[in-house]
Amino acid sequence: MLYQYTIIPSSANLPYDSVTPSPTQADPDINTVLRTFRGLDGTKTSPELLDIGGETIRKYTAEFWTPRQRQASSIHEISYRACFKPQLPRFFIDSLTKAGDLVYDPFSGRGTTVLEAGLCGRNVVANDANPLSRIMTEPRFFSPDPDVVGKRLKAIPRSAGSADIDLSMFFHPDTEKEIVSLKNYLIDRNDHARMDQIDRWIAMVATNRLTGHSKGFFSVYTLPPNQAVSPQSQQRINKKREQVPEYRDTYQIILKKTRSLLRSLSAAEKSNLVRAGKSALFLNGDARTTPQIPDNTVQLTVTSPPFLDIVQYREDNWLRCWFNNLDRDTVGKGITMARTVDEWCAVMGRVFVELCRITRPGGYVAFEVGEVRKRTIRLEEQVIPLGKAAGFTCKGVLINQQSFTKTSNIWGVDNNACGTNTNRIVVFRKHDPDQDSDPNTSQS
Ligand SMILES: C[S@@+](CC[C@H](N)C(=O)[O-])C[C@H]1O[C@@H](n2cnc3c(N)ncnc32)[C@H](O)[C@@H]1O
Repeated sequence: MLYQYTIIPSSANLPYDSVTPSPTQADPDINTVLRTFRGLDGTKTSPELLDIGGETIRKYTAEFWTPRQRQASSIHEISYRACFKPQLPRFFIDSLTKAGDLVYDPFSGRGTTVLEAGLCGRNVVANDANPLSRIMTEPRFFSPDPDVVGKRLKAIPRSAGSADIDLSMFFHPDTEKEIVSLKNYLIDRNDHARMDQIDRWIAMVATNRLTGHSKGFFSVYTLPPNQAVSPQSQQRINKKREQVPEYRDTYQIILKKTRSLLRSLSAAEKSNLVRAGKSALFLNGDARTTPQIPDNTVQLTVTSPPFLDIVQYREDNWLRCWFNNLDRDTVGKGITMARTVDEWCAVMGRVFVELCRITRPGGYVAFEVGEVRKRTIRLEEQVIPLGKAAGFTCKGVLINQQSFTKTSNIWGVDNNACGTNTNRIVVFRKHDPDQDSDPNTSQS
């Protein structure tokens, strides 16, 4: 299915099945995309002009993508704090890359950018300071046969004792035993270097099913799955709702979610993902230092960094860390939690320097920031000088206005911390001496 809006160049918006590299594709250019963009109502988008440090930057506001235009792949449907919807990276991947190009996300989270790029036949690099990011992302490049997952689950004993911490407020005792059995099995496989893609898939699904607000999760009713509450808060929830944890068949839940994640994947998409996954780099470090990525190699980065101190990744992830045998304090230490705009800019300035090193001449960065502190802080305006100081040219700011529906809120837009529903993306380009006569005049 094609997007319904009109974008030139026509290399954009290929269905996933048509990603054969074509040497005749024009070099992608964001100016052409923005100049010729027409919204769903067919009207051309005219920019507002921003004055940033004496330079005029164009700001385009429109509904650039919506859930209605294209159903996202089911493979994305795992939850993660402050993730964006797949339509966001898809817009830039379609517009600014060709098949075989390298797409990167330095703050990869649940892996939305790299999975979407993999589906489209691009090569990928993902990085995140939180090791859970790789646990959630890598297995989804290698779709398993659900029958093989079922067989593997059957072979795992369900007899281990209870957990080393009190989890009785979340799980029925028999459910807890199953979770502990699975956890021990995965540790054992890992310790003996026997962990394979099926084990990784099971670990990914189980991590995502630990807690949630329906019978599709292992726990009694609690907050949505990307935020584990503390044991004390859960006790309060149980008291208020007069609930006790019921038994949940964890292995049936894993199997059901496996089928659901795979339900929309075509054979071509599966093979695109496997190809991208095999050559992918999954890094677990600080976005400021990524020596594993060679200079001048990345065509497009699509990313959204942590926004000041809004999301408590360390607190939210304590149960997921426990299940994956990770120390949450160590995990928490790597995650940037800037309290002030200056602190945030100091970190992001260094991220941009690193992005400029790895971006190839003529390549792009689409940097998404949220609306923070009730829109009193416009991070997009802070970001422009940082990108420029690192050596990029700012090509404009895109504000995607979304029609806010209940379903569109399920899997992606919870970075709208103030209940707003826009994505704010600053687009940068790296100077290409072979194409641009003068870096200062190359900005249109
Ligand atoms: C807003 S989330 C990204 C969500 C992602 N776009 C998605 O769709 O899932 C920000 C991510 O940055 C990671 N992070 C925070 N500080 C980091 C750092 N200094 N280097 C790399 N990753 C970091 C967090 O662990 C979190 O996953």
